[in-house]
Amino acid sequence: MATPMCCAQLDKLTYAHSSFFTTRPAEELAAQLIAHAPPGTSNVVFCSSGSEAIEACLKMARHYFVEVGEPRRSKFIARRQSYHGITLGALSVGGRATARAPFIDMLVDVGHVSPCYAYRERGADETDEAYGLRLAGELDAKLRQLGPQNVAAFAETVAGATLGAAPAVPGYFKAIREVCDRHGVLLILDEVMSGMGRTGTLHACDQEGIAPDLMAIAKGLGGGFAPIGALLVSQRIFEAVKRGSGSFPHSLVSSNRTDARIGAKPTWAIRLPAPPHSPASRSSNATISLPMCASRAPTWSAAYAKGSATIITSATCAGTGCSGV
Ligand SMILES: Cc1ncc(COP(=O)(O)O)c(C=O)c1O
Repeated sequence: MATPMCCAQLDKLTYAHSSFFTTRPAEELAAQLIAHAPPGTSNVVFCSSGSEAIEACLKMARHYFVEVGEPRRSKFIARRQSYHGITLGALSVGGRATARAPFIDMLVDVGHVSPCYAYRERGADETDEAYGLRLAGELDAKLRQLGPQNVAAFAETVAGATLGAAPAVPGYFKAIREVCDRHGVLLILDEVMSGMGRTGTLHACDQEGIAPDLMAIAKGLGGGFAPIGALLVSQRIFEAVKRGSGSFPHSLVSSNRTDARIGAKPTWAIRLPAPPHSPASRSSNATISLPMCASRAPTWSAAYAKGSATIITSATCAGTGCSGV
């Protein structure tokens, strides 16, 4: 079913540059994502892979701090034994030593703290709660060492390939969120592996009772076969960028390719509960840096309802005003 839908979409429109144009399918997919996202999420940036979503997270975090007049915040803290992708920024925050080794001199300097890995690292007499708090204390100490005014933080909600799908102990993410808030640090969650329904809820963090400032998703978003990823952005960050420069300088010529804009009938769509938040306030112009443009493309909702696929790409974008955010 996906193939005819893709071909039909290609016949209607093939390409539009992501720095200037958006499409109805992209807007509708973004609106669906926002309607079901953690509280506070207001916007989406699409890309073509998990690694690209991570790169976008890193740059957006840094961009936010420049916009709000805290340009010294350029460092990141992440966890050992994590995997965040293979591009240079993603490798930098990642903690997979063998993947990093040949490129170590080229990587951004990132502070690494312990993963939440109770199976091996919780003390024999330590409760889950005490272990989670100990790790939050370690993050706090690392922040103080680097200077909290210099940092944005980073974590996988459920540690993926490098730890064998290890979930955090109860209370860990609440404690991490609290440490980040205390120091004015952004919390970035990598849900490329664990999100989009793979842990029983749409987002793994739904089970932790916290919301990130930025979140990377991919993999399940494309139903397993389409090269599509996304960065979910909180309203706080969006508003800061809007009030500031008004744009996120991160467009990719290849990022709006037809083959990168397939929202297959994904497993996450099948499992979606009723939207927990009012779509009315969140659904318009939901992508970032992409104004609405002419679109004759099939809509996401139609594809969703029919259980088919849609390509999220551009129409001929005649006469569209192109603003920043
Ligand atoms: C947690 C996590 N983040 C990022 C990535 C990178 O995604 P991609 O391989 O699509 O670039 C992966 C890939 O396995 C991942 O598991």
